[in-house]
Amino acid sequence: MNADAKKAVLRMIPYGIYVLTADDAKGNVAAATVNWVTQSAFAPPLVVVGVKADSGTYKTVKAAQSFALNMLGKEQKNLAFTFFRPADVSDGNISGQSFRKGETGAPILVDVPGAIECRVTSIVEQGDHHIVVGEVVEAHLNKPLAGRPDAAILEMKDLGDNVFYGG
Ligand SMILES: Cc1cc2nc3c(=O)[nH]c(=O)nc-3n(C[C@H](O)[C@H](O)[C@H](O)COP(=O)(O)O)c2cc1C
Repeated sequence: MNADAKKAVLRMIPYGIYVLTADDAKGNVAAATVNWVTQSAFAPPLVVVGVKADSGTYKTVKAAQSFALNMLGKEQKNLAFTFFRPADVSDGNISGQSFRKGETGAPILVDVPGAIECRVTSIVEQGDHHIVVGEVVEAHLNKPLAGRPDAAILEMKDLGDNVFYGG
């Protein structure tokens, strides 16, 4: 396989940008920007997320057995960059962002347009990122959306010419 072709073609896959959050109720709170996300079933509503297996986020999601995906709005590039770094919880904020506790205990960022909460139903342990399968158990629409919902989300291509995760 040609390594350059592999990289270029895999980078043709379009991605939305999300902040994955979880709280294991033992003092570990995760919040990380992720893009390897898709819905994978209607009934029950399932989503899958590729999570770096050696990350603090993965450990916390696995312990919590639940997580939230906070959908970033088109103008929230700054939030994407904030959560590329390990999260810091202080003064009731995560990395400076206010949040409230969701149904599952996962932090829901107050400033995002919407979020879903999921219970982990299984984890596929293959590769350097494991596939976390989550059943959607709660949805938060924090702001009304005008137009197509998928036009409201920040996308990988909005982050600049040199930002990729994939390839
Ligand atoms: C553009 C971009 C996309 C990312 N997408 C993912 C992803 O889909 N899954 C993942 O596990 N990490 C992803 N990361 C890495 C996490 O954002 C980063 O490892 C995390 O915020 C660090 O927190 P932690 O080590 O405390 O878990 C991405 C990073 C960048 C720069």
